[in-house]
Amino acid sequence: MKKTFILAAAAFVLAACGSQPKFDGPAYLNPNAPVEERVEDALSRMTLEEKVGMTTAQSKFSSRGVPRLGIPEVWHTDGPHGIRPEVLWDEWDQAGWTNDSCTAFPALINLAATWDKELSLLYGNSIGEEARYRKKDILLGPGVNICRTPYNGRNFEYMGEDPFLAGKMVVPYVQGVQENGVAACVKHYAVNNQEFQRTQSNSVVDDRTLHEIYLPAFKAAVQEGNAWAIMGSYNLYNGQYNCHNKKLLLDILKGDWGFDGVVVSDWGGCRDSEEAILNGLDIEMGTWTNGLSGAASDGYANYHMARPYLEGIKSGKYGTKELDDKCRRILRTIFRTSMRPEPNYGRFVCPEHYQAARDISAAGVVLLKNENNTLPLNVAEGGKILLVGENAVKKMVVGGGSSNLKTAYEVNPLEGIQNAFAGKADVQWVRGYVGDTSTSYNAVSTGQDLTDNRTPEVLIAEAVEAAKDADYVIFVGGLNKSDHQDSEGADRLQLDLPYHQEDVIRALAPVAKNLVVVNISGSPVSMPWADVAGAIVQGWYGGTETGNALADVLTGKINPSGKMPFTVPYKYEDGPIKTERQYPGIKEDGDEYWQTHYDEGIYVGYRWYEAKQIPVQWAFGHGLSYTTFEYGQAKAAKSSMNANGTMTITVDVKNTGNREGAEVVQLYIADSEASIDRPVKELKGFEKITLKPGEKKTVSFTIDADDLSYYDVASQGWKAEKGEFVAHIGTSSADIKTTAAFELK
Ligand code: BGC
Repeated sequence: MKKTFILAAAAFVLAACGSQPKFDGPAYLNPNAPVEERVEDALSRMTLEEKVGMTTAQSKFSSRGVPRLGIPEVWHTDGPHGIRPEVLWDEWDQAGWTNDSCTAFPALINLAATWDKELSLLYGNSIGEEARYRKKDILLGPGVNICRTPYNGRNFEYMGEDPFLAGKMVVPYVQGVQENGVAACVKHYAVNNQEFQRTQSNSVVDDRTLHEIYLPAFKAAVQEGNAWAIMGSYNLYNGQYNCHNKKLLLDILKGDWGFDGVVVSDWGGCRDSEEAILNGLDIEMGTWTNGLSGAASDGYANYHMARPYLEGIKSGKYGTKELDDKCRRILRTIFRTSMRPEPNYGRFVCPEHYQAARDISAAGVVLLKNENNTLPLNVAEGGKILLVGENAVKKMVVGGGSSNLKTAYEVNPLEGIQNAFAGKADVQWVRGYVGDTSTSYNAVSTGQDLTDNRTPEVLIAEAVEAAKDADYVIFVGGLNKSDHQDSEGADRLQLDLPYHQEDVIRALAPVAKNLVVVNISGSPVSMPWADVAGAIVQGWYGGTETGNALADVLTGKINPSGKMPFTVPYKYEDGPIKTERQYPGIKEDGDEYWQTHYDEGIYVGYRWYEAKQIPVQWAFGHGLSYTTFEYGQAKAAKSSMNANGTMTITVDVKNTGNREGAEVVQLYIADSEASIDRPVKELKGFEKITLKPGEKKTVSFTIDADDLSYYDVASQGWKAEKGEFVAHIGTSSADIKTTAAFELK
């Protein structure tokens, strides 16, 4: 025994110090040398031209390495829901590969609706594996811009209306991606909350609002997730374009937050050489994205940070301090990714990723209403289920802008229900309404033909007739990923369902024995028809497995546990946006830009509705289950805490129904004695727990002074005021089950 131990120990010592062959090449090539040593060594060997070269694109999705030194180019890819199909070198057009159909993961709003940090890690890890397999170094995602207005076309690519939720969900995603040696590029930094005039609009935001609402998720991604890359957004903030915004990039991101990664411009987001050089942009991508026609010749050399930078240094206009900083960051990214020491080849379109996509999507489906236990579906042998609506069949991985994907396959809701009831029930589908019949985007086609020239009257009559003898009528509608729905480049135009869908729902209600409405969207949709439906489900763009995931929830194979990541008001006018100044912004005569004034300040989402006591259709955090939960009394561990201490709050939660289920226990904090205007309460903790019937668990939240603080403009820092705070614990922001008060000393 003793002898074996000594031998093993000797072998370990040998392995640790002696057995590895000595690396006698340059330090930057030594995989075992510390990253910073590799960076400095590589930098010391580079010419001025090579350094400048690194800071710009060389193709639509790659930027330069240093070929002479064997330092590879950097490959970027969208992001954020799957790995984008390959495009031609200098074009947006598809390259026509036949082996680049990816796993489409659920839209990030679907992930946010899971309120499940472990699933976010699984998501990040899975998409990171796909990126690595495809030899991508920077994944252009995740996006964490706050849902300020329901009209923002890109809400579906983001994580909802609350900075704490987005902040907690983004961290594991980033970590999961980066475990694979792929940099997560968190976007779009910052205050980029609308698509209308996205490259010509200046967000006018006060400091408190900036720090409390729009920056925390980025900060969490950087400081807790250690994100290696950040993408500057298209818009301006305080009059300066964000891809070279001094305050956002130099002062806050690289200064206050200590970000050591690389700042990448959005494609075409860099506008000015001097600002880009001096204000912290590291890699310029996509300038003249229209095929470089804005450049005279040799487009990439004409990039703002290419020839003008080189000439500027040679003429003495610029020094090399900024250039070395940019190159250090780019080299660091390369040594963290393509030249990292650990071999990792990734995985692509594999059963594990399909399963991950299905689990994540299902966990985010939200049961909004379930009168008389309409759901789960309970269909006798040989019964009839009727699906109505375009979104039951429309494949929606395709579309939406840069998150458009070519997926290996996509199960639509009709196919999902058919799979679930094969041989057991008769599953039929009728159109109900004609919405968007496009079936291809950016040369990726779903292969469907959705043309239908019938009038709404004819379609409704057909649906009503078919509904009469159905045990269940499931209307599947909502938005889609075409322009002015949920799509990049154009905002929505209305909060209501488009394409006469309300008429279809109202016509079905009187004849349907059981009416289930599934709303598929990536942003809030008003539901004035909510009373007529037995059950309402919020579904999302769930990716490859979307239909199976939805069927899992409707059939009860999976007990719903998703919670709303945004508020759904009764009507748009109830919300915080009241003026054109606020949204979409105003452009005065002679003004170059649209000015978008964030006059509502910190009162975004539930913070607004609660402050104004405006009732909402579906509250932030709302979501039902097929079982029931009972909350005990919340308990603060002690009556007071010090400014540098912590406070633990516990609550018992019991499953009082007869099936296993998961509950998201939510903690909101209210400052009872605030001397300044503060929200009624703010999310500061959440835990998703799974409980068997009858099972009880104690959920515990530990908070510190940061969770009690507001951003104090005078001192430019966070401040917690002494006095009483109340912990509100509940199943949604509007359904608080128990409270506990404590004092901050
Ligand atoms: C989008 C980014 C995207 C980039 C590259 C831009 O138009 O705003 O989100 O990553 O294109 O496709």
